[in-house]
Amino acid sequence: MSTLIGSELSQFALDVAAGFSTAGGKRIAPRYFYDDLGSALFEAITLLPEYGLTRADERLLRIHADEIAQGAGKLGTVAELGSGNGKKTLPILRAVLQMNPQITYQPIDVSAAALAVCEREIGSLCEMKPVLNDWMQGMSEIGRKREENLPLLLLFFGSSVGNLDRTEIPDFFRDLRSHLRPGDFFLLGADLVKDIDTMIAAYDDPTGVTAAFNFNVLGRMNRELQANFDLRAFAHEVRWNSEARRIEMHLLSCRDQDVFIGALDRAYHLEPGETIWTESSHKFSEEELREYARLSGFASVATWVDEEWPFAEALWRATE
Ligand code: AVI
Repeated sequence: MSTLIGSELSQFALDVAAGFSTAGGKRIAPRYFYDDLGSALFEAITLLPEYGLTRADERLLRIHADEIAQGAGKLGTVAELGSGNGKKTLPILRAVLQMNPQITYQPIDVSAAALAVCEREIGSLCEMKPVLNDWMQGMSEIGRKREENLPLLLLFFGSSVGNLDRTEIPDFFRDLRSHLRPGDFFLLGADLVKDIDTMIAAYDDPTGVTAAFNFNVLGRMNRELQANFDLRAFAHEVRWNSEARRIEMHLLSCRDQDVFIGALDRAYHLEPGETIWTESSHKFSEEELREYARLSGFASVATWVDEEWPFAEALWRATE
């Protein structure tokens, strides 16, 4: 490590150094799954028969788009955390546009490529002002630059909130609320607790796509951080943590091994059976979502739950 002092380490390298030195075991933040290959693998995950989450989210938004738009009423702006490919957003935007032909749509994403895809899908429907930034900075920017007095509807789909640490979730909602005005709306898609076998299969599919998604983070470290992980010396491990109500994905070391990370100029030892914890996917109850709303300055307006795959779309209104 000493040879690198004074040189520029990427945020990825710094986060890996911190995550590999934590007392509770090695960790990598799930945001590092999403390089080009990881993003393509995630798209494939959403098509897996075992992963019902994305289809449930899309179904709810399709079926209830008009009710959601009516629940929110008069709007000036629709903002979205993560721009996606527009597939989930289109029905709700169309429904909102029927009541509010003048709205501006502001997707927030760190990826210029993702924003460009979104602009291709949605740009012809309404005025669009993409925000190239992370979620919270993007919301702060939108909050600061808002001119009109009409309410804003903030969209956050795909149960991405489940990938935060559970202890961070209330503060995350409070931070979002701090960039909104009373009377603004928040539409949150969140995956609900369901039977354990169904949840495990969604993250440990027999096709091996989710395993490939998990292994890719090691490949990414090899490519970007000059590491020498042998991907075949790891196993994809999925656990249901009933206390924390979350699916955990780990990469389990199949043998005693030393791995060198060139960007950190440092070797790390892994014992057989030791894991690198790569993701938590928290699952929620409807009651818990309403409690989060109350604790973070929102009133729960309505919740829609999918009939095939327990997943909720929750509409909240920012209170005074
Ligand atoms: C993006 N996020 C909500 C997905 C999830 O279900 O936690 C990521 C994912 N990880 C494995 N499969 C899908």
